[in-house]
Amino acid sequence: KTCAWEARADLLVLGSGVAGLTAALRAQELGLRVLVVTKAAVEDGNTRWAQGGVAVVLDGEHEEGDSVARHVEDTLTAGAGLCDADAVRAILHAGPRSVAWLRDVGARFDPAASGLLARTREGGHSAFRVIHAGGDATGAEVERTLVAEATGRRLPVLEGHIAVDALLTPVGDVAGVTVLDANGVPGLLRAPAVLLATGGLGQLYQATSNPEIATGDGLALALRAGAQAADLEFVQFHPTVLYTPGARGRCPLVTEAVRGEGAVLIDGAGESVMRGVHPLGDLAPRDVVAAAITRRAAEAPGGVDDHVFLDATGVSAFDSRFPTVYSACRAIGVDPARDPIPVTPAAHFACGGVVAGTDGRTTVRGLYAAGEVARTGLHGANRLASNSLLEGLVTGTAVAESVAADLAAGLLADPKQARAPRPRLAPVAERDALQRVMSRYAAIGRDEEGLSVVGSVLDLSTQDTRLGTHREVEDAALTLVAQALVAAAARRTESRGCHVRSDFPQRNEVAWQRSQLIRLSPSGQ
Ligand code: SIN
Repeated sequence: KTCAWEARADLLVLGSGVAGLTAALRAQELGLRVLVVTKAAVEDGNTRWAQGGVAVVLDGEHEEGDSVARHVEDTLTAGAGLCDADAVRAILHAGPRSVAWLRDVGARFDPAASGLLARTREGGHSAFRVIHAGGDATGAEVERTLVAEATGRRLPVLEGHIAVDALLTPVGDVAGVTVLDANGVPGLLRAPAVLLATGGLGQLYQATSNPEIATGDGLALALRAGAQAADLEFVQFHPTVLYTPGARGRCPLVTEAVRGEGAVLIDGAGESVMRGVHPLGDLAPRDVVAAAITRRAAEAPGGVDDHVFLDATGVSAFDSRFPTVYSACRAIGVDPARDPIPVTPAAHFACGGVVAGTDGRTTVRGLYAAGEVARTGLHGANRLASNSLLEGLVTGTAVAESVAADLAAGLLADPKQARAPRPRLAPVAERDALQRVMSRYAAIGRDEEGLSVVGSVLDLSTQDTRLGTHREVEDAALTLVAQALVAAAARRTESRGCHVRSDFPQRNEVAWQRSQLIRLSPSGQ
């Protein structure tokens, strides 16, 4: 099919979560013509499902002894040696200003009795510094605020459109994208700057905290455009989603803040899962907790079990403090005030992604990335809880400013020079088969043999397909991202952060205290 329609902007923002909308709003303030493109509805995406909160050390509103420097330390510790310390410092120091902006435009965080903001604790944090909204509905409040602001400012948003490929100039700069509308009609969007704010890739796995639309589209687009990516092997599994037998798709999260308020993980015999595992006990970094749960479940009498329990009976006023978790529990007949909550780890967050500075610039001119799709170096091998909404806010603002500066300096390509890639066939694996083998062999506890099984199943179940529907674009993205992730996981012959190799259980600082960079040659152009 040839492109049936065409539109232009200064900045295309792909994705409408915290990073995308923050960037779009700031870019509009800077006088840019912005177009937000989202494959679903504007409020869909991962942001609104975030529970725990925003980790930030606010001036004059922090626990005694806490500081941004300590937040930096905790982030570096969780990141297991692979964070970029400069990026960590830059993002965390900018946090208070971004949160102040969000509150200015209407976000309401929960107050404490003192009148200051309430703060909770999550895994890996050495202080109570996670602010929250609606108890455990922080992401929903962040998204509500940004969508209301975008609506109030008449920010143009194209819903139901999925980006397929970047438009490249003869020298390989990005200057637009091809898209499919909701009916699969192809179109061209031309712009000297394209921001990927497309979120994560939880749908690589059968059980995930992510919604159906988290299919790695932006990462795949960037790889096909020749951008560098890194740290793809580090997929964070949240230790506690609500367990229901045979669960598929998005599983309700049980926020770590529940443990921050005193709940403890126990096995089927009532024994603590985390005692003796880590000095922070139930509030150890989440890679440690998720791996401990997986180990304990595997040791269950009678063979491998697939869940443990969270005893939250000591958490007071559970229903009002955690209304989202409470209603998910009640929906499966569990009363957290009386019953242990069945929980299991599930795919949650991509720590790696498209290599980008904290200013959003990638290795390809005209292409920017912010939020979960980007790898800024904030997360390293394991993201610290509640650092991601903050990253989206801070880098969303910064990327708008870098696009404005790059445009003003005449650094970006003229979109007229960009050509659409020729229609071509892309490898597409069958989604169920892909999710099954990724969950079995490329989740927590990987080894060489299992990873090679994933590689061969992907090869066998892959067919060359013309990307004419949203589903085909998503499946092509999942396929490419799975291949890149599995290759990176197979090469990293050690365990570090979220990457746990059962055949290489130790960390290897000599060979592996480095990120793996990946770049494909731009294809199909
Ligand atoms: C949670 O509330 O446990 C999730 C927070 C996060 O993933 O940062």
